Amino acid sequence: MTAQLNPRGDVAVLVPAGGSGVRLGPGAPKALRPLGGEPLLVHAVRRMAAAPSVRSIVVAAPAAELLAVRALLASVAPVTVVPGGATRQESVAAALAAVPAGPEIVLVHDAARALAPAALVESVAAAVRSGRDAVIPVLPVVDTVKEVSGDDLVLGTVDRATLRAVQTPQGFRRRVLVAAHAAAVDPLTDDAGLVEKLGVPVACVPGSEYALKITRPFDLSLAEHLLASADA
Ligand code: C5P
Repeated sequence: MTAQLNPRGDVAVLVPAGGSGVRLGPGAPKALRPLGGEPLLVHAVRRMAAAPSVRSIVVAAPAAELLAVRALLASVAPVTVVPGGATRQESVAAALAAVPAGPEIVLVHDAARALAPAALVESVAAAVRSGRDAVIPVLPVVDTVKEVSGDDLVLGTVDRATLRAVQTPQGFRRRVLVAAHAAAVDPLTDDAGLVEKLGVPVACVPGSEYALKITRPFDLSLAEHLLASADA
């Protein structure tokens, strides 16, 4: 039996959480690092489960932590936990293979974006529901961006007006995500990149500052402040 949330929901969320998190410094796998006393993964899953459209959640956990992650999430939401792979892409593919029949919209959400609000899930899902095959949440780039050489010399300035910083959850019509992963050759850092390679248009919706990716110790401190401010 596959774990289910809202039986009338049309969305499955895949949560790749199989990374080691070396950039956060030594310690547990990143998804299990504490934020406000609870692992990042717990925050992420709780927010996904709070979105009314979500019917099922599949987490790809570090293989060595499978039982621990199942136990951890048992009291948070009904989720399916599968072993992740060597890369993020392999972890997403493993989770995708475990999605039960039913949901025709699949979202992929990094556990590292632990504070992404349920409202963002709904806006991405709504854009797919309205006819888009692939949808990503984005924010404008505020810094000036330079292209640099391997020896740190500036090669040029990129026009930031055309740039966007990309977040998760990214949303897809299920068959499009399945086709993109089936056709994948090289590992990419996001799923929309695989869909782009199929020539399928990817649409943007406004992202959320709260969906920041917790990668370095500074990000964790920032997330602690956001959480303490009670509106995250
Ligand atoms: O390493 P990076 O920060 O890009 O990882 C993004 C997300 O992918 C994280 O939530 C991480 O846990 C996940 N990941 C995974 N399996 C891997 C590597 C990363 O699920 N082998």
